[in-house]
Amino acid sequence: WPDGTHLSGADLVIGGIPATRLAARFGTPCQVLDEATVRSRARAFAIALPEAEVVFAGKSLPCPEVYRWMAQEGLSLDVSSAGELALARTAGFPAKRIVMHGNVKTSEDLKAALEYGVSRIVVDSFDEIAQLGALATHGQEVMIRVTPGVDAHTHAAIATGVEDQKFGFSLKTGAALEAILRVAEQPSLRLVGLHCHIGSQVRHVASYEETVRRMVDLIAKCGVRIEQLDLGGGFCAPYLPTESTFDLFGFAQRVRGTLNYECALHRVPVPRILIEPGRSIVANAGVTLYRVCAVKHGENRTFVAVDGGMSDNPRPALYGAKYAVRLIGRGGKLQPCTVVGRHCEAGDVLAEGVLPADVHAGDVLAMPATGAYHHALASNYNQVCRPPIIAVNDGVARPIVRRETEEDLLRRYL
Ligand code: LLP
Repeated sequence: WPDGTHLSGADLVIGGIPATRLAARFGTPCQVLDEATVRSRARAFAIALPEAEVVFAGKSLPCPEVYRWMAQEGLSLDVSSAGELALARTAGFPAKRIVMHGNVKTSEDLKAALEYGVSRIVVDSFDEIAQLGALATHGQEVMIRVTPGVDAHTHAAIATGVEDQKFGFSLKTGAALEAILRVAEQPSLRLVGLHCHIGSQVRHVASYEETVRRMVDLIAKCGVRIEQLDLGGGFCAPYLPTESTFDLFGFAQRVRGTLNYECALHRVPVPRILIEPGRSIVANAGVTLYRVCAVKHGENRTFVAVDGGMSDNPRPALYGAKYAVRLIGRGGKLQPCTVVGRHCEAGDVLAEGVLPADVHAGDVLAMPATGAYHHALASNYNQVCRPPIIAVNDGVARPIVRRETEEDLLRRYL
């Protein structure tokens, strides 16, 4: 739950506002986002690693207002397409603090990045090095995405540091060294750093330590001065009450120690660290409110069907993600139940939870930890309109993304 969330009777108070009041005022489904939690998590990274550049992974919660908060907190921003860059421009995000990513950047993406003057572009293929070299005109700063071959022990769909997948230049095959030479051959490009991102929802600090060792080894071998070392994001967030938060201070201490030790050992200057947290900043700031539309008693379980589903949260279907759920506004004797969505698929299951035995249509459910990769991954499946995001802060609520309407949907059809 967001920081400071508490019970008032059977109601849940988020950002100083009872959730039942938010549901009544803004309708359901809706995503509530606690601004103070987002800001304090962003600040925690800056405090834990004051020597690092903290780059918010804009893909985790693409929204100009959230990008503005990040700019105010002194973070940089990672964008992975011209679309995310357009949101950053709307937010007035300073170009000199934007990094562009992506394993495929179209020429439109690259041109938009060059035109806005983003500070660094992370190149991800030999084709891209050549293309960017031709498009750029003056010393565009680039980083090279390296696949360090480290297993982050996470879901296969979000493990990006292992060999034999689409991201980056492999350390093992020598492609990473080759990429460093290729960038050096492009007069319009200037290599400033190496980048890696081992995956998402990573729990073990040891995976990052191993990554640092391998990356410093590459820095030593390449014989070129590397000013920046970007370790990517991936720091886990808790989704269930039994899960713990990422050990940020342990991470900072161990990564700093390993970096200094390895650089001394290889006699190379210590590069400036960059990190790219997304989920760990926004996930726990978000709560989704759903209204119960129907309750069905199956042979072995109770299905509680709500007015949203895999269109606003495809994570259970995509990654087997688990969520908690709570009925707000009243209590009662609890029983296990399966919370399902409104979409035409049996896999549209949001959570296994416990709810009062008399849960019925009209009740409001709150689902925590929905701030990251929810709005980002939302779709219009079954032509369901996407929910709004309501920012709450100190008793004040305001939409920062409005609810999608049928007019929005119809606008695209010819
Ligand atoms: N840097 C790069 C280059 C990335 O690709 C990502 C996430 C991040 C940073 C931020 O990772 P985070 O700190 O948020 O874990 N849709 C999936 C997550 C995909 C992550 C994609 N890349 C999910 O809902 O679990």
